[in-house]
Amino acid sequence: MKAISFARGIPAPESLPRADLADCARAAIERDGSTVLNYGPAGGYGPLREWLAARHRVGPERVVLTNGSLQGFLFLARCLARRGPVLVEAPTYDRPLRLLEAMGAEVVTLPLDDEGLDVNSLELLLRQGLRPSFLYTIPTFQNPSGKTLSKARRRRLVRLARRYDLLLVEDDPYGLVRFEGTGLPTLFELDGGANVVYGSSFSKTVAPGLRVGYLVLPNGLASEVEAEASSTYITPALIPQATTYEYLHRGLFEGNLARIRDALQARRDAMVATLARELPDARWTAPKGGYFLWLELPEGFRTADVVSRAQAAGVRFVPGSDFFLGRGGECALRLAYSLAPPAEIDEGVTRLAAAVGCSLRSAA
Ligand SMILES: Cc1ncc(COP(=O)(O)O)c(C=O)c1O
Repeated sequence: MKAISFARGIPAPESLPRADLADCARAAIERDGSTVLNYGPAGGYGPLREWLAARHRVGPERVVLTNGSLQGFLFLARCLARRGPVLVEAPTYDRPLRLLEAMGAEVVTLPLDDEGLDVNSLELLLRQGLRPSFLYTIPTFQNPSGKTLSKARRRRLVRLARRYDLLLVEDDPYGLVRFEGTGLPTLFELDGGANVVYGSSFSKTVAPGLRVGYLVLPNGLASEVEAEASSTYITPALIPQATTYEYLHRGLFEGNLARIRDALQARRDAMVATLARELPDARWTAPKGGYFLWLELPEGFRTADVVSRAQAAGVRFVPGSDFFLGRGGECALRLAYSLAPPAEIDEGVTRLAAAVGCSLRSAA
């Protein structure tokens, strides 16, 4: 029996543009080998910084390229977390949570509801005098919940950030992989960039193996993050950055994005349809983009009782509790629909539903 994984946010292998990237890598080295085969600036490959700077309407000195955006988050957190508590969403992407824990940061959580981050809870904390070093938020197709912050809340959040001089760290790897509905302005766009650090990467839009991520930062902070980068690796990997630049420069990005969006939509549709058929009493988000769906088990079921049965049945996922700091998510799980093709998604969700059914029988 082939194991089916809904565990990690990995793109489908067939969506990786292998031939084009091979060609771009060769061209990048041939064209600019003396730069990309040497040490270079800690902030990354100049032409890609300039390309991104133009896209985000800032100067290139405000763009710092890192080996994946998670590394950008780590550098930023190293610069900021000692200045005060860090606010995060509950649930949130587990890796930043673990990085913050490992560096001994004080972490304060804010709840999400169907419209995304509960801005009222944030306002209350700020009014009570909490002065966080920053708020880490994933407003669009959040990992793990698949939720998206509404436009009204985006505006309110940006206003609050201004009023309380709160730095927002907007992690946005999924904003461009929207396959339904109209796009929303980013916090960075609404704010103009004074109170928002924007982070994204080419992991979900081109290929994660490139390890090309970036931050757009206020000037002073950009220098601090660059200093962190310099003391960590001197220069980030320039060949993938130059390869990515070549890919963009050749105009291949948009067509690839369209293919990725179509593939994700077919997978999301398959997952939602199978859930409706096999687990009609559960609740789930049906995101209009991104990689993940959040499943709340039917009343009376606990994820911990399902995990090993699901594994034995050949289906994997991440338990909801992994995305919380303390309690939370005990009856939920994250399903990534990005990797498996639709037919396997159908089979995997059917196996999952059977594992849930067994856990009821043994609990009864
Ligand atoms: C919200 C979020 N941020 C960052 C990352 C990491 O991206 P990168 O590959 O650019 O390090 C991920 C990967 O799953 C993610 O879901």
